[in-house]
Formats: sequence, structure tokens, C-alpha cells
Amino acid sequence: MRNLQDKKIILGISGGIAAYKTPELVRRLKEQGADVRVVMTQGAQAFITPLTLQAVSANAVADSLLDTQAELAMGHIELAKWADLILIAPATANIIAKISHGLANDLLSTLCLASAAPIAIAPAMNQQMWHAEATQTNIQTLTKRSVTIFGPGKGEQACGDIGLGRMLEVHELVELTTQHFANQQTLSAELSLTSLAGQHWVITAGPTREAIDPVRYISNHSSGKMGYAIAQAALNAGAKVTLISGPVNISAPQNCTLINVNSAVNMHQQTLALTTDKHINVDVFVACAAVADYRVDNIAIQKIKKTANNDTMTLNLVKNPDIVADVAKLSNKPFVVGFAAETQEVKRYAKDKLSRKNLDLIAANDVSNSKQGFNSDDNALSVFSATEQFDIALANKTKVAQKLIAIIAKQNKNIK
Ligand code: C5P
Repeated sequence: MRNLQDKKIILGISGGIAAYKTPELVRRLKEQGADVRVVMTQGAQAFITPLTLQAVSANAVADSLLDTQAELAMGHIELAKWADLILIAPATANIIAKISHGLANDLLSTLCLASAAPIAIAPAMNQQMWHAEATQTNIQTLTKRSVTIFGPGKGEQACGDIGLGRMLEVHELVELTTQHFANQQTLSAELSLTSLAGQHWVITAGPTREAIDPVRYISNHSSGKMGYAIAQAALNAGAKVTLISGPVNISAPQNCTLINVNSAVNMHQQTLALTTDKHINVDVFVACAAVADYRVDNIAIQKIKKTANNDTMTLNLVKNPDIVADVAKLSNKPFVVGFAAETQEVKRYAKDKLSRKNLDLIAANDVSNSKQGFNSDDNALSVFSATEQFDIALANKTKVAQKLIAIIAKQNKNIK
């Protein structure tokens, strides 16, 4: 079986010594059934000729943004729309910096901006350049934008150094490209099966603020990004969405009903009002908010003054209502999904919460890992039902939300 049958790949070649491996790469991609169009930067042409790449790809090689003849054949926008994948190999520190900053001053960088196709890059550079803070920051930026990074490999470099920065071998790049398309297929199959048309989802998101006095409050670091991404994913899949949100600095998705709240008591009131309303049928309730467990017992009416003779001050806190547990107690309860942010023993605590709060699913994340969870753009989740576990690998919250709603939709259907 040919793994890349009919896949349209733009192979972007930038100016590194590893460019000498690209004719072989083109041949192996074509062998798997891909249609490959090569785009070369000026630097790349110092290492390998367009004629060679044209011969092996059996397509004209594009190397200029301003070439009238090339624009007549297949213009750069047309080329950008044509691709299923833009693979940049080798990707020099320079092209990585350009695409991470959104420059469009040559054909390859312009294509990266003009195309909706996924981008994968195979970095190739001296180990010092790879480890440079600027390069690493650029790589992080690209990862956040869902650009896939193939490699780099470790070993002896053309300059004599030894370390990270070698372009992966051709067979590894072909394997990773195949894997990329296989992952895409799984995700789109999951998503195309997820139609939430006719369903009403209620989602809590963000932190709560528990007032101490008119100017001070107790809160937490929740950014609301995960809950908002779930709202967007549910909307995309056709659901009607009500988002009950604590104070955040991000915009709510268009077309959702947004209810802004401050305190946990306020969030509780709004949520219960919706889920107990006889005229409203809530199908799924996702409690993504980081609700404060306690609130200040007696909120001071006036600003509390610092006094000369008091070095300490005591706040009396009382427990907040548990929103998700109260929704899960309703006789006509929706399908209820909770979250568990843990710093240790994630599985044990999550499963305990699942049964204690009578939830249908719980999505747990390890917030001791700074790359995921609170205030981060990325997340990884382990989702538990009473009998099953589903793992969602570290990815940006948009992707994680898409996978999560596919799991919720499937489990909800199984229960119905
Ligand atoms: O018990 P814990 O706060 O760890 O539980 C987390 C889950 O419970 C989250 O889904 C959160 O939104 C929800 N929760 C709630 N009301 C609270 C506390 C937590 O809905 N007062």
C-alpha cells in the first residue's frame, strides 16, 4: 500500500547543507504516491540546482515570488491552496525565524502565510544555532501554532561540531510525514462523527473572584482558555452553547450565549437557574471553571484599613457550593463532565472525584507540569469514565478541546 497516495506536498527547501538529501526525499515521497511540488529559497539554490529537483519531482520548481512566467503557470496563492502539507526540509534557523514572525519576503515564507495547509519543518543547523534562545523561542511559537517539528537529530555536523541540529534522515522524514497524515485522518474521522446539532451545552470557564472588601479579592490563575476552546469546539460541531464565565482576558466565541459572573455563588446561581429551568433542556454540562473552594464569610462593606498595631489579619472563609456536584444531583441531570487539576496522583484523585461528585466523565490534568494546564496555551488530559480511560496528548487547547468533545459525544451517546 502506498501511504501517501494522492497527497499534495509542497517541499520547501531552504539553504542548508542537508539540501543535498532532498532529491532522495522527493523520490521517496513520490514512491509512496505523493505529488510533490518543490519551492526553493535563494540559499537552497547555492547547494542544489532547481533542475535536479524538477527532474525528480516531475514538476516545475518554484523559486521566486515575482516571476511572471511562474505566476502564469501556478500562482503562489493557487499553490498555497493546492497543498495538503507544506514540508520544509531542511529548515534553517533563518526560515524558522521568518515563519515564526510571519514574514513574507520570499516565495516560501509567503506560502506559509497564504496556505491553510498544516506545516511541518525539519530543522537543520549547527548545534549552537539550534540551542540559541532565539531559535528555541521561535520553535515554541511555531509549536503553539500547531506547526509540527520533525527532529532535529543528533550527531556529527557538517561543520565538525557534534550535537543536536542534524536534519533527520530521509526515511525518517517519510515515516513522520506518513504519520502526520494518519493522525490527521484519525482526528478528522473523530470530528466528522461528532455532530452536536440540536444539543445544548452549558460550560463554566475561568476563575471565580471571592471578594474580601470592595477593592480586594481571592482568585486563581485560570485563564479560561480551556473552557473557551471547548465552547468553540462544541459550537463548531453544531451545538448551542451557553458559556458561564468568570473574569478572563479573552474573547468569547461568536454565537455562544455568554453569562459573565464573578463569584462562585454567582456562578452556582446562574448554572442552577439554567439546568433546572423546565423550558430549557441542557444535554451536556462541562464544569471547566476553576471555582474557589472557599469564600470570605463577611465581605467588608468598606475597604479594610491597615492598622499600626496589627501585624497579622485573619480572614474567615466558608465553603462555596459545589456547582458540578449540585448539577450532577439533579433528577433530570445532563451528561456531566468535571475537571480535575492535580499536582500529584492525578488518576487516583480524579477517579475519586468522579464517583464522589457523581460525574459521567472527568478530565484530569497535571498542573505541576508548567507546559500544560493553568494559564498555558497547551494541555494534555486523561479522561476517565467509571470504566474507561482516554488519553489526549499534549497539544494546543483547540486540538485538545476537539478531541475532548469527540469523547464526550461518544460517551453521552453510549449512555443514551
Ligand atoms: O473538587 P475540585 O475543586 O477539585 O473539583 C474540580 C471540579 O469541580 C471542576 O470541574 C470544577 O469546575 C468543579 N467545581 C465546581 N464548584 C466548586 C468547586 C469545583 O463546580 N465549588
